[in-house]
Amino acid sequence: MGKRNSKHHSQQTSAVSLITLADKTSPISEQYRTIRTNIQFASADKKIQTIVVTSSGPAEGKSTISANLAVVFASSGQRVLLVDADMRKPTVHKTFGLSNDTGLSLVLSTNQSVLENTRTVGIENLSILPSGPKPPNPSELLGSVRMNQVIEEARHLYDVVIFDMPPVVAVTDAQIMASKADGTLLVVRENVTRKDTLTNAKNLLEMVQARVLGVVYNGTQNMKDQGYYYYYGN
Ligand SMILES: Nc1ncnc2c1ncn2[C@@H]1O[C@H](COP(=O)(O)OP(=O)(O)OP(=O)(O)O)[C@@H](O)[C@H]1O
Ligand SMILES: [Mg+2]
Repeated sequence: MGKRNSKHHSQQTSAVSLITLADKTSPISEQYRTIRTNIQFASADKKIQTIVVTSSGPAEGKSTISANLAVVFASSGQRVLLVDADMRKPTVHKTFGLSNDTGLSLVLSTNQSVLENTRTVGIENLSILPSGPKPPNPSELLGSVRMNQVIEEARHLYDVVIFDMPPVVAVTDAQIMASKADGTLLVVRENVTRKDTLTNAKNLLEMVQARVLGVVYNGTQNMKDQGYYYYYGN
């Protein structure tokens, strides 16, 4: 594999690896739209505007699902902000071919606004806030009063805000954000997620009164036909 030329922020090449952009009519893209619909109808009285995506452990598909969900929400005409709130293992900037020199960590540790730091990637209605440079204290930053202001600014500017998080069991980041967000999606991956860890994750989320909208089942190991199945509710 050749190294990607970092000077070349070609939006097409980088973003096209997302199934929801590459093949809008595929069954997987359709499943993402189903998830979108379920989230939209999850609440009769209060619109779900801020969504946390997490899982019990590492490498279960959180970032893949966050990015594709952001794309399908944007394609429905809603203004979407995808926030890389995984300041420990950030990947959103890579997915969209962006640099990571500014982003959430910077907004949280300065007075810079969300708006100043979001980027567009040539996808209508979609804005991205990368993680920014790695801070020494992600949990503290996410738990800060400043983070509440950041969420408020994002709510004001966008219809939907999606937070890509670290796993819920290893560190407290996702728990903190789940307590602040309108809803949380818990990703489960076939042959990866351990049952005891999943129970632990659900307990940790319940502890902070997170509203778990549902479990996204990341169902196949085959890259060619990544399958996602959505279970609504518990
Ligand atoms: N259903 C799937 N089939 C095959 N590969 C997948 C599937 N879902 C995700 N992957 C791949 O597994 C890797 C991990 O996925 P991803 O980065 O979305 O997980 P994550 O939960 O965000 O990981 P992390 O805990 O490191 O943040 C990626 O290389 C991704 O392309
Ligand atoms: Mg990730």
